[in-house]
Amino acid sequence: MHAGPEEIAEAIARLKGGGIVAFPTETVYGLGARAFDQAAVARVFEVKGRPPINPLIVHVSGEGMAREVASAWPSEARRLAKAFWPGPLSMVVKKADRVPANVTAGGDTVAVRCPDHPLTLALIEALGEPLVGPSANVSGRVSPTDARHVREAFTDEQVYVLDGGPCRGGIESTVVDLSGGEARILRPGLVTGEMIAQELGRKTVRGGGGPDGSTLRSPGLLPQHYAPATRTVLVDAAAVTELGKQHPGRSVVVGIQGHSGGEILLPADARGYAAGLYRALRDADASGADLIAVVRPPVHGEDQELWEAVMDRLLRATADR
Ligand code: TXA
Ligand code: MG
Repeated sequence: MHAGPEEIAEAIARLKGGGIVAFPTETVYGLGARAFDQAAVARVFEVKGRPPINPLIVHVSGEGMAREVASAWPSEARRLAKAFWPGPLSMVVKKADRVPANVTAGGDTVAVRCPDHPLTLALIEALGEPLVGPSANVSGRVSPTDARHVREAFTDEQVYVLDGGPCRGGIESTVVDLSGGEARILRPGLVTGEMIAQELGRKTVRGGGGPDGSTLRSPGLLPQHYAPATRTVLVDAAAVTELGKQHPGRSVVVGIQGHSGGEILLPADARGYAAGLYRALRDADASGADLIAVVRPPVHGEDQELWEAVMDRLLRATADR
């Protein structure tokens, strides 16, 4: 059942007491705590098992609140907020002093986004303060796209869950770094580099590497992430029929409608695929198979950048462990 005013009131009470509240967004569920409450933020890291070197995204109800967590709000941020907020775009800007150091993993920048979900916008608005919100999964695991996924991972004592139904987007927000004078895409998502470039009237750059390729600009972008517990591999559509013969155990195939076989089938369009991907991986994980084979989606055509965002998640889900 979807949450209403009563649940929002309970969520606010929990947050004010330093507690953690999982909130729905248009991408995935987030693990919320008051961003200005250093101890509450520390508990988010603890509950998630998240390495302290990985900074959190601060969620706001609008641009005015975003400016309160930033020490400078560049014209690029103004333009992109106008074009894509509320929506799946996180912007990295210079942080304001009052943002606790653990939110930004000690760094001088902060990622900020305004999520597109009425329940969460109402929550932040009523609280009057921003919330940190890493994806509401145990660190390294698949992000939750349903309240049930969050309830499975945490106890009610650890995390109060605001149920806002299934998430529409399905993969995490695009992260763009505006703190260095350029627009650098650190994590691809449903707001593409092309969409950003069009809005800014200039090209974006990609990747988390510094000029010498050495600095990890977005420490959360570790190679193995978003992974099911079961061993997961990528296979070509043509290899699906061979898989049963080659693999001695029980395998489950996550395929694409109209393109391949498979026990679990995802839509053939990039947005539909993204929306269903994490649920599919969870279902595959729960199927009892000892191998998950994901059919490699086609990364070309007009939605190439969206497919690249999907592939980014698939490569992490299937990275060697
Ligand atoms: O869609 C989303 O962004 C979801 C929902 C809940 O809003 N949240 C989410 O948070 O995916 P999380 O913590 O799972 O991922 C945050 C990403 C990480 O890759 C982190 O390294 C990066 O954003 N990040 C956060 N602050 C940063 C900063 N100051 N500079 C660079 N990267 C940052
Ligand atoms: Mg995450």
